[in-house]
Amino acid sequence: MQRIAVLASGGGSNLHAVLDHLDALGADAPAAVALVVSDRADAYALERARTRGITAVHLPRGAAEGALEQLLADHGTDLVALAGYLRLIPASVVRRWAGKMLNVHPSLLPMFGGHGMYGHRVHAAVLASGTRLSGATVHFVNEQFDRGAIIAQWPVPVPVDDTVDRLAERVLRVEHRLYPWCVAAVARGAVRLGDDGRVHGTLPYEFARFGVEGPQHPFVPES
Ligand code: GRF
Repeated sequence: MQRIAVLASGGGSNLHAVLDHLDALGADAPAAVALVVSDRADAYALERARTRGITAVHLPRGAAEGALEQLLADHGTDLVALAGYLRLIPASVVRRWAGKMLNVHPSLLPMFGGHGMYGHRVHAAVLASGTRLSGATVHFVNEQFDRGAIIAQWPVPVPVDDTVDRLAERVLRVEHRLYPWCVAAVARGAVRLGDDGRVHGTLPYEFARFGVEGPQHPFVPES
């Protein structure tokens, strides 16, 4: 059973979705969330973790260099899932969990990503651009913001009269489907980051389970 650490700065709705998905898999679950870390003491994500009996740690912004790595190591972390974590992940942590660290981003990367592109800023930029398509992206984390290898994407339409709030909600709904599948697939080894820096494998098991078209799903790279 893989041990997942979830890092979150805010509401933790993606954390909630991952927990529910692993619960739903029951005995088939390849992983369990063992630790939730937040840079904000008042992050609702910490509350969600405590409610479920999961270790919840507030790591303040001024924490010593190396504190995050130590914490993750102390909890035997196999997989790190970033879920709205707004702090830069130290390079040593990125390297140590290379291919074992995922992020979910609320746009179709590589568009509308990068430094400073988070939360409503992303959706405001999407609306300002006039594009009629946005969505969610799950990717492996590397040392560049939002530039790691893409595991899966799920598009959503952007109507001409859209608002930031409505778009954010529409994208978040698909994040809640896509992220747990990807986390479970990576935990299971069905999807992995190759030495060539590319994503290998498919998400057939997860998609089949939820009644979505299988490995031929048009928005999932096949291998
Ligand atoms: C999500 O939109 C995610 O894509 C982004 O931050 C937000 C986190 O929301 N990285 P929540 O805390 O999971 O509700």
